[in-house]
Amino acid sequence: MNYLRYLEQEIHSVIMATVDKNGLPVTCAIDIMDSDENGLYFLTAKGKGFYDHLKKNGYVALTGINGSDTLSCVAVSVRGKVQEIGNAPLPRLFTQNPYMNEIYLTKQSRQSLTVFQLYEGEGEWFDLSRKPIERISFTIGNQEKEIRRYEITSQCTGCKVCKAVCPQNCIDFTGIPAAIKQENCLHCGNCFTVCPKKAVVRRG
Ligand SMILES: Cc1cc2nc3c(=O)[nH]c(=O)nc-3n(C[C@H](O)[C@H](O)[C@H](O)COP(=O)(O)O)c2cc1C
Repeated sequence: MNYLRYLEQEIHSVIMATVDKNGLPVTCAIDIMDSDENGLYFLTAKGKGFYDHLKKNGYVALTGINGSDTLSCVAVSVRGKVQEIGNAPLPRLFTQNPYMNEIYLTKQSRQSLTVFQLYEGEGEWFDLSRKPIERISFTIGNQEKEIRRYEITSQCTGCKVCKAVCPQNCIDFTGIPAAIKQENCLHCGNCFTVCPKKAVVRRG
């Protein structure tokens, strides 16, 4: 699965979060106009508050969802560093996204537009349409993968107390210690809470 391509082509309009001049979070809808092995590309106008936030912080977080209701939805979330790459890619982005010609009708009206690249960061694919759920993390650019998950250590005796409280039934007891199937785990923490041997650890 190419997660960035999925964001561009299957989701396209996402919600992006930045931080305003008072340090408070602010969100807005932004279209992912292009994607490649070097990241995601989106455009904005230099007069917008959103532009100021991007320039000041150089960082953005976004989530896009695809599906008609919660149990048919995939969410893709990304956060990372952004840089302004200017207006040179605009003709290509308008060709790839022809509806933009209906918003910015003339060449003159596009003078304030500029393109940003999200070039380094981390993301997560979260698919609620599958049973058990599927979640997969990925990185963009030179970002190192940060591990955030629950793990079962050698203290585990295979008692299965955690089995009853796991909402996705994603603990594998074929060996001891038991193992959490990470790609199906909701990170609810129930196994961590109930383990009588304190064998479950939280990483990250
Ligand atoms: C579906 C949708 C897609 C949008 N895509 C963009 C976009 O790609 N770039 C952009 O600058 N604004 C886009 N907007 C408008 C921004 O969400 C809006 O201007 C936002 O409030 C940011 O402006 P501000 O920082 O001045 O408040 C979109 C709005 C909608 C409803």
